[in-house]
Amino acid sequence: METRLVRIGESEGEERTQTALWEAAEIVKRGGLVAFPTETVYGLGANGLDEGAAKRIYAAKGRPSDNPLIAHISCMEELEPLTAGIMPVGRRLAERFWPGPLTLVFMKSKRVPYGTTGGLETVAVRMPEREEARRLIALAGVPVAAPSANLSGRPSPTTAQHVWQDLNGRIEMILDGGPVGIGLESTIVDVSGQTPVLLRPGAVTLEMLQEVAAGVEVDPAIQGIPGENIRPKAPGMKYRHYAPRAEMTLVEGEMAAVVRLINRLAEERERNGSRVGVICTEETKGQYDRGIVRSVGSRSQEETIAHNLFAVLREFDDLGVDYIYSEEFPQKRLGYAIMNRMKKAAGYREIQA
Ligand code: TXA
Ligand code: MG
Repeated sequence: METRLVRIGESEGEERTQTALWEAAEIVKRGGLVAFPTETVYGLGANGLDEGAAKRIYAAKGRPSDNPLIAHISCMEELEPLTAGIMPVGRRLAERFWPGPLTLVFMKSKRVPYGTTGGLETVAVRMPEREEARRLIALAGVPVAAPSANLSGRPSPTTAQHVWQDLNGRIEMILDGGPVGIGLESTIVDVSGQTPVLLRPGAVTLEMLQEVAAGVEVDPAIQGIPGENIRPKAPGMKYRHYAPRAEMTLVEGEMAAVVRLINRLAEERERNGSRVGVICTEETKGQYDRGIVRSVGSRSQEETIAHNLFAVLREFDDLGVDYIYSEEFPQKRLGYAIMNRMKKAAGYREIQA
């Protein structure tokens, strides 16, 4: 299959953007696959009411089909038909944070096929903030099921080039709207029961959720390795997501000690002929004298760190890095989501400096 890469957005002008969105919507209506930018990461879109389209998503990503998809909507009126009832707290969260980087899990209606929900009785719904994404959904006239547009197991794509690397030849079209804004996948909150439960941290932070839903609980699977007694409620959380090819280790501790330990470990690895990547910050980048050193931004700007993280992991893959050593970040606000993705990328390998 030939994959068309088409630019959209301000640089291309309104007319060309509209034409591209229209063509993409036609592909979705016909049951095909289109990658498109959202404010979080690039999504791989298909008709969310078409079981066959969901199957094609799983095949293109190489993803297990028990991993449910998020149905993306363009306006509030499109929510009701997908659900079998909305709890007041679900409605409050939707009204406060949509459009935006928040996915809400509801009991599903009959309209939503099990092919989209991975066999679950619930459905995950999100109204993206990125305007072109909502226009695409509205033009398609159906909820657009869209996982992140990466091959299963690779970091989520934050540019159209990342999508191209993973899915060229496997999908009909990629809409290139430049780098995304946030760079981490949406926050997921299950509002299908009495108590809202955070299933995946994101840019709508736990602190922000608590302002609207005081009793929000945190799925224990977020904290650590999914094991025998901890079964994540978001099935996707059980896979080794966000994984670079290299073995990644997070180094915790007082900054000067962290830098010293990473330099020492990197030197040992390099002496043995391995290629090493170091993930650090603007504050420390001058202090590393070993490995391929990449700053993800300043410690005072969590947004920049979130924005750069997946691109750096992909770059290390491209450079054939064998071992990655990374500094850690405080787990407050957006830092919670950043550390969640980093821990998963590291397979929960953490050491103390
Ligand atoms: O930011 C995002 O959410 C991006 C963009 C494209 O919108 N999408 C995304 O999709 O990250 P994906 O498929 O990579 O991750 C969706 C997560 C998975 O972990 C999946 O298990 C969970 O959402 N999920 C989907 N439906 C669910 C449901 N009914 N109950 C619990 N978890 C669900
Ligand atoms: Mg994903």
